[in-house]
Amino acid sequence: MATEDLAPTVHGEKAVDLATGPARPGVPKKDPILVADHITRSFGGVHAVDVDHVEIPRHAITALIGPNGAGKTTLFNLLSGFDRPDTGEWEFNGRSLAGIPAWKAARRGQVRTFQLTKVLNRLTVLDSMKLGASKQKGESLLFSVLPFTWRAQEKQIEERALVLLEKFRLLDKKDDYAAALSGGQRKLLEMARALMTDPEFVLLDEPMAGVNPALVQSLLDHVVNLKREGMTVLFVEHDMHMVRHIADWVVVMAEGRVVAEGPPQEVMKDEAVVDAYLGSHLDQDIGVITGRYDEEGNRIP
Ligand SMILES: Nc1ncnc2c1ncn2[C@@H]1O[C@H](COP(=O)(O)OP(=O)(O)O)[C@@H](O)[C@H]1O
Ligand SMILES: [Mg+2]
Repeated sequence: MATEDLAPTVHGEKAVDLATGPARPGVPKKDPILVADHITRSFGGVHAVDVDHVEIPRHAITALIGPNGAGKTTLFNLLSGFDRPDTGEWEFNGRSLAGIPAWKAARRGQVRTFQLTKVLNRLTVLDSMKLGASKQKGESLLFSVLPFTWRAQEKQIEERALVLLEKFRLLDKKDDYAAALSGGQRKLLEMARALMTDPEFVLLDEPMAGVNPALVQSLLDHVVNLKREGMTVLFVEHDMHMVRHIADWVVVMAEGRVVAEGPPQEVMKDEAVVDAYLGSHLDQDIGVITGRYDEEGNRIP
């Protein structure tokens, strides 16, 4: 598949300017869904994350790019409540999320997926989806003595799971073990599962990495559809063609910091970006299009 064959770009839909001023690190957004300040996290002597200020625009697709080790996954872990920062404050929809565990953040409408899928191999695809539903009413004492309510909710959860599986073309795999899925299908399952809680803000850590080219278009379409359905997306991606193609905004990290941000075309011309990141990758078409794949469709690094 040539890059030019990818679905029509969504750039046409993003006529509105997302930032309040010229693109620069930390520029305020007109309607931010997430605002983060002074977020730091060190491991030993390594400053994995040191983000002074960043805002993620609502109803847009923001790409988070940067070289390996830049701190992208660590930032995701912090923002989503899977890890705690040394310092920092952040607000989701104007409410602090600092110190809020991941499951609570999910209930408020913010979910994330993992760079290495956390799909549980010993569950069937359908059970894995059900587990993705937010804290179930059946878990509380009141509802556990009201089996009808509990059963009604179980049914609702299953129905939602089936609708999402259909959408992600995994319905015929619903009774298979997740272990039997290809790398790309697992990525799809993980994305579908994240949607069980009907989120507003979806953080995707390398959703396209290791995915067979045949599934890339489908994953791209799903990411674009999240926005069409009103969600906000922040995703980590190495392939600059993908980024240019679907991102409305790009945030660049290097050595833990935000070194640049702006609309894709602008950011990719930025000297700091070219120095920090693109210099070594710009003409390489890294990633999905030219990568090599094993029989299962997993990218060979
Ligand atoms: N749990 C951890 N323990 C020690 N060091 C870590 C841990 N997680 C991340 N790091 C370090 O933090 C830095 C940022 O890593 P990471 O967030 O995974 O980068 P990216 O996702 O941008 O590739 C790297 O130097 C990495 O080695
Ligand atoms: Mg990472």
